[in-house]
Amino acid sequence: MKLIKVKNHLELSKVASEIIIDEVNKKPNLTMGFATGKTPKKAYKNLIKAYKLGRVDFSKVSAFNLDEFYPIKHSNSRNNYKYLFNTFFNHINIDKKNIHLLNGETKNIKKECEDYEKNLKKSKIDLQILGIGENGHIGFNEPGSSKESTTRIVDLKHTKGKALTIGISSIMNAKKIILLASGKKKAKAIHCLVKGKVGSSCPASFLRNHKNTVIIFDNRAGYLI
Ligand code: GLP
Repeated sequence: MKLIKVKNHLELSKVASEIIIDEVNKKPNLTMGFATGKTPKKAYKNLIKAYKLGRVDFSKVSAFNLDEFYPIKHSNSRNNYKYLFNTFFNHINIDKKNIHLLNGETKNIKKECEDYEKNLKKSKIDLQILGIGENGHIGFNEPGSSKESTTRIVDLKHTKGKALTIGISSIMNAKKIILLASGKKKAKAIHCLVKGKVGSSCPASFLRNHKNTVIIFDNRAGYLI
């Protein structure tokens, strides 16, 4: 696991977007896994800027998302589907047929999750982008998630809602992972990820057993390590 400590969120976003640009330029048909949330937003903005400047081309890139609320309509502004289209996909030249998103509108959860997992296995994620929850969750793999977990429906304890998420094993199958963390609120999670016991009580800690993971965090998120 490689650790990159940066000054602040601005710098974090820059480092992350430059890694992504580099990976896409090395392999134009890169398969990417996308996280949502506040943390990667600025990095996505940087990528749009780089695309507009002709520094990167997404026309052959494939995209998968990490998680989605359930049930949720595509038209709901809270969903990860809208987030990815509004903050990123609508502003670059990605081919819509290469975008694979967990469907929060599905009537058949079992089939949706099985098909998604199969598709992930077949496509093989080259580069997975991750955020981290304050309790060390990745995707919606909350504490208690096993390292064998695959795409499934989970309960969200804090909101009493549900979500679909790819599992720990689905994430670990990615060839390269970059995890982003910014701000004091993430300090405990970064501590358990980097220094805690590897196990289900801190799902992000499983990344310590991954061969090619880069953790990028700012001073505030890293103050406990
Ligand atoms: C949510 C999502 C994750 C995300 C995390 C951090 O729980 N399921 O995919 O990475 O929160 O979000 P933020 O970047 O807004 O702190």
